[in-house]
Amino acid sequence: MLHNIKRMVRGILDRWRSNEIKRAITLNGNHHRFDWWSAITLSDESDNNDIVLGEGVWMYGHLASQNHGKIIMGKLSKIGRFSMVTAVQSVRIGDYTAIGDHVVITDNNEHSVNPYDRMVMRTKDEDHPYRLWRYSDSKPVIIGSNVWIGSRSRINKGVTIGDNAIVAAHAVVTKDVPENSIAAGNPARIVKTDIHLTPRLIPEDIPSVGKAQSVNLLSGFIM
Ligand SMILES: CC(C)(COP(=O)(O)OP(=O)(O)OC[C@H]1O[C@@H](n2cnc3c(N)ncnc32)[C@H](O)[C@@H]1OP(=O)(O)O)[C@@H](O)C(=O)NCCC(=O)NCCS
Repeated sequence: MLHNIKRMVRGILDRWRSNEIKRAITLNGNHHRFDWWSAITLSDESDNNDIVLGEGVWMYGHLASQNHGKIIMGKLSKIGRFSMVTAVQSVRIGDYTAIGDHVVITDNNEHSVNPYDRMVMRTKDEDHPYRLWRYSDSKPVIIGSNVWIGSRSRINKGVTIGDNAIVAAHAVVTKDVPENSIAAGNPARIVKTDIHLTPRLIPEDIPSVGKAQSVNLLSGFIM
């Protein structure tokens, strides 16, 4: 009985949050999933055209745009709970990419590296413009298709991650990661390459939902 009431309340809260989020961003296609922990923050002129989710995205994290920073998530990609993407320029996430829980992906430093700038910032109120991310260094982040980003990792400004790569749990990625490789550690180093040649463990072909794109993405794979 109590369990059913909890489920019902949870369902109502998830639906309420989902409707709130749908108004704040641009959705392509259908089958998106949100829950009570999903969050969107738009500030410094950003609007609902700056965050775009493709078909079937599961968005359980927090996406924050300032200064019209673009956050694009490709079809069937996913971001887990308590993960955050922040953009003042752009963060692009490819189709099928899976991002774990407690991950941070950011295209900016949030604060100035210069000590004097930071002291000036500390003297200002919470809503003062000097606290905005545009007063920090920034560079676009590109995350390819079918990338797996492990829990509690961090991806810094200017990083490009190639298709099919893996970022191991707890990694701090400061440099580019080539396609089909695994990056691990802090700062992240390449620990494996050619992972598309590892034996498959799931005995099924890719369902037709994304077949056209997948054929290209997986060319050279052992199928
Ligand atoms: C990367 C991962 C997938 C393992 O892949 P794997 O091919 O089985 O890798 P291995 O265990 O053979 O390890 C390869 C090397 O990377 C190192 N390594 C693996 N994971 C690491 C991590 N998280 N941090 C640091 N080093 C790591 C290993 O020590 C090994 O180093 P060595 O070659 O010097 O011995 C796994 O460690 C991982 O981080 N998964 C993410 C899990 C997760 O976050 N799940 C929830 C989100 S969906």
